Amino acid sequence: MRLADCHNFHDFRELARQRLPAPIFNYIDGAADDEVTYRRNTESFERCDLVPNVLRGVDAVDLSVTIMGQRLALPVYCSPTALQRLFHHEGERAVAAAAARFGTMFGVSSLGTVSLEDVRKAYATPQVYQFYFHKDRGLNRAMMQRAKEAKVDVMMLTVDSITGGNRERDLRTGFSIPFRLTLGGMLEFARKPMWGINYVTHERFSMPQLDAHVDFGGDALSIGRYFTEMLDPSMTWDDVAQMVREWDGPFCLKGVMSVEDARRAASIGCTGIVLSNHGGRQLDGSRAAFDQLAEVVDAVGDRLDVIMDGGVQRGTHVLKALSLGAKAIGLGRYYLFPLAAAGRPGVERALELMKTELERDMKLMGCRSIGDLSRDNLRFR
Ligand SMILES: Cc1cc2nc3c(=O)[nH]c(=O)nc-3n(C[C@H](O)[C@H](O)[C@H](O)COP(=O)(O)O)c2cc1C
Repeated sequence: MRLADCHNFHDFRELARQRLPAPIFNYIDGAADDEVTYRRNTESFERCDLVPNVLRGVDAVDLSVTIMGQRLALPVYCSPTALQRLFHHEGERAVAAAAARFGTMFGVSSLGTVSLEDVRKAYATPQVYQFYFHKDRGLNRAMMQRAKEAKVDVMMLTVDSITGGNRERDLRTGFSIPFRLTLGGMLEFARKPMWGINYVTHERFSMPQLDAHVDFGGDALSIGRYFTEMLDPSMTWDDVAQMVREWDGPFCLKGVMSVEDARRAASIGCTGIVLSNHGGRQLDGSRAAFDQLAEVVDAVGDRLDVIMDGGVQRGTHVLKALSLGAKAIGLGRYYLFPLAAAGRPGVERALELMKTELERDMKLMGCRSIGDLSRDNLRFR
């Protein structure tokens, strides 16, 4: 199978499966507990039908949106994800380059493998910095200051991960950072030697956002322990309100789901919220963001930008979310499998396919710009 054979999410996933050692593939592909929420994220789009209009003279389509003050040429962006250089040696650089080529936003994770400064300097496209809240308030302040100096556009605080999710696929393979592979897991790496060759012949693995503060080497902290020992489960709305004031720029909460929390986010001055269940990787059984979207948009859509992510695999999924009132949609595995499959050309092909689908689907819907989409276009089964 080659990149040219990939025509949709499932093809990219299959190519990534062929190229990655199974423990790494399962880290990306897996989710929490019984993976119910992971499955529902995509299924929820199928409970909703599009109702097109015809004969509207749609020759050109404008896909641009503005969120949190950032103009994006596409209504989708690359959501921040951890450990990208483990999936492909080009890692975040490939994703940033592809996002820039398509005029959209990308996020650098706290657990990213390229420094936020390096990608900020290399690409002019809007950049998010995804932040975790640490017990050490000095560390939080230092990290925010660093992001400010790097001229990051949007601060995105992830609030659904005050403790790590139960990812049972990782327990079986021994996937963790540093690696603590089971024998079976080690054998899987031996079966994919090209991955190993790329891994050892390229820039040494590191997590530059945290390296100065956390020692992930040898017997030191694992990512699992980083979550339980360094992040602050006692974080409250007052802490976030203070962060919003200190950041003094576009500030977004990722992982808000309830109407009550959305209202509080608006009242402390957040510019945006991402309805998200972290791709089903945290609280299994939690609701799909798409199912929760309408009530949150109705409650706070006039006060901040409501964004959503989770399970998006098709242009039509994006159009359904936009029709309900989302201002933009985050992509996770949609670009991660292409990254793993083929690096930058993979992510570019995935974004190109998404753009083509969106343009075609907008024409078939009879819509010229994103503002033409509305709930009149939708019926729920
Ligand atoms: C492998 C992987 C790593 C992720 N790492 C992070 C992270 O470091 N920080 C974060 O806020 N979200 C992280 N996420 C969640 C994504 O940002 C996004 O919310 C989710 O992937 C959306 O679901 P989808 O993959 O079905 O599109 C990660 C997701 C995956 C699949």
